[in-house]
Amino acid sequence: MRFYEKHILPGLTHLTMSQDQLLPYRQRAVSGARGRVLEIGIGSGLNLALYPDAVDQIVGVDPSPELLQRAAQASQGLTPTTEMIEGVAEALPLEDRSVDCVVATWTLCSVSEPEKVLTEIRRVLKPDGVFRFVGHGTAPEPGVRRWQRWLTPAWKRCAGNCHLDRPTDTLVEQNGFRMKRLDTGYAKGPKPFVFMYDGQARLY
Ligand SMILES: C[S@@+](CC[C@H](N)C(=O)[O-])C[C@H]1O[C@@H](n2cnc3c(N)ncnc32)[C@H](O)[C@@H]1O
Repeated sequence: MRFYEKHILPGLTHLTMSQDQLLPYRQRAVSGARGRVLEIGIGSGLNLALYPDAVDQIVGVDPSPELLQRAAQASQGLTPTTEMIEGVAEALPLEDRSVDCVVATWTLCSVSEPEKVLTEIRRVLKPDGVFRFVGHGTAPEPGVRRWQRWLTPAWKRCAGNCHLDRPTDTLVEQNGFRMKRLDTGYAKGPKPFVFMYDGQARLY
């Protein structure tokens, strides 16, 4: 398994996450970000070049050294200062109230403990900070949900702990955030994999 995670999964993650259809979601997630940004589960750094000029520092956190190395390469030549930290979003190595914005793109589906991650995001965000997220999650139709529940145990083993059946909106709203914007809907692809939650939330 370690061989797969070290040598196969990083390249596969980069390839699947580079799909053109994800670009508009990424652009929406980062547009309006400013100041000091924390990106959890930064992966290969596919959002880095999209941040607006108002961002002056980007801190990326990810447990995969291989993906962080790719993100560090992607950060070369960018205007904001960047720092890549190996770690998990369940225990963020940052001070309380120290970031203006937290970005998570297709990360809430993959973390081990989403409630703990949201508690950490609340801790590190400044009081007027914004949590910007995009990811797939629970579909509205019971039939698709059944498939999501059925596929997830096998899928998460080959896709870096990616869960298809997480109710992203409920998780965010029940863990101390109020939704500022939320758009949902299917992207192109097999339904259990592509029901997207695209939103912004603030602290209560
Ligand atoms: C599907 S990839 C998305 C990568 C990137 N956010 C993007 O949009 O291309 C999920 C990412 O979450 C990271 N991840 C998994 N568990 C994590 C955790 N507990 N804390 C932070 N990141 C995690 C993975 O290493 C991977 O980079």
